[in-house]
Amino acid sequence: MNEYLITGGAGFIGSSVCEKLLKENNKVIVIDNFCDFYNPKIKENNIKDFIRNPNFKLYRKDIRDRQAIKEIFEENNIEIVIHLAAMVGVRPSIEEPCLYQDVNCLGTQNILEEMKEYNIKKIIMASSSSVYGNCKQVPFKENMIVDFAISPYAATKKANEVMTYVYHKLFGFNVMILRFFTVYGPKQRPDLAINKFTKLMLADEELPMYGDGTTSRDYTYIDDIVDGVIKSCKYVLKNKNIYEIINLGNSSPISLKEMIDTISKVLNIKPKIKQMPMQSGDVEQTYADISKARKIIGYEPKVSFEEGIEKFIKWNFQQGRSFLKICKIFSTGTVLFENFKIFSTGTVLVLKIHKFYAKERG
Ligand SMILES: NC(=O)c1ccc[n+]([C@@H]2O[C@H](COP(=O)([O-])OP(=O)(O)OC[C@H]3O[C@@H](n4cnc5c(N)ncnc54)[C@H](O)[C@@H]3O)[C@@H](O)[C@H]2O)c1
Repeated sequence: MNEYLITGGAGFIGSSVCEKLLKENNKVIVIDNFCDFYNPKIKENNIKDFIRNPNFKLYRKDIRDRQAIKEIFEENNIEIVIHLAAMVGVRPSIEEPCLYQDVNCLGTQNILEEMKEYNIKKIIMASSSSVYGNCKQVPFKENMIVDFAISPYAATKKANEVMTYVYHKLFGFNVMILRFFTVYGPKQRPDLAINKFTKLMLADEELPMYGDGTTSRDYTYIDDIVDGVIKSCKYVLKNKNIYEIINLGNSSPISLKEMIDTISKVLNIKPKIKQMPMQSGDVEQTYADISKARKIIGYEPKVSFEEGIEKFIKWNFQQGRSFLKICKIFSTGTVLFENFKIFSTGTVLVLKIHKFYAKERG
């Protein structure tokens, strides 16, 4: 049993990592401020299954609050920190660069400083594929020069990588930087395209497609990411004098058009696409070279894009958020879902979704 601090542990990736670590019988401490970047109720829902687990402890605090972090380290025997808390999203960071700087850079500095004070020197740090900016050379390798961020968000992530290196050099921190490539799956953030497009398709509304559909992303399924995070923790716990940056991607980019087509195929709904101009801050493509992650931690993504989308949509329905739309589709009889496994349980499932939905709406 190890004792972990997960910052941002109520979020999409954080709560998924929590779940896995708790299943493996570890102790998990979470700090999260449940910020309203998206509906905090979603974050409450993310952690509801383990809130009563005696191995789980939650601090509803802000990483900008140095005293709060001090108390967490004082009250617990943390061995390793998984630092995921951040203001996320490329486009919103252009609107509010100071907030991104404040949370992502000052917040990270607070964590590093208190780790130093309490002699906790093992950290897994969330970075992002966005640090590669519009690098033309693909796939992206960790040793490429990444000095050309095209959004404030990406710049803060690069700054985190550099600052953590300083703590490695000066104070002997053992560090693993994980550059995540567009993560999707159950619990996915509502601001991310797959989640947004699924809801829009179910609502029979237009999908804003920025650009001509040829931009591509190396979508990576959440279970593969969680596996990469846990393997990185084991690596950091076992080894000394480490500072490594690794890509956690799928190494198989999917174009925006293919992404829409896959969701459409799984839902069996024809999308209404509204083409829009490319947005500033958005990169043209992301594509991870994962040979380093494979070599040093044995990372091996397993979930294909289509399989991942099926799992995500199944989860989405189970959450009941799409209940009304499903009813509408059923009643109009426009969609039959013949190939959709979850509908083999038909009425029972719909009733369950209804019950959940009614509960959620109070
Ligand atoms: N999801 C992706 O595709 C992706 C890709 C690249 C990098 N990342 C990085 O992975 C990490 C997790 O991302 P996610 O997708 O789970 O996002 P998320 O927004 O779901 O999770 C981040 C969590 O941090 C918390 N948080 C924000 N500001 C805080 C503060 N000041 N104090 C305490 N908690 C705070 C939020 O409430 C949230 O629960 C982030 O660092 C993000 O930059 C994610």
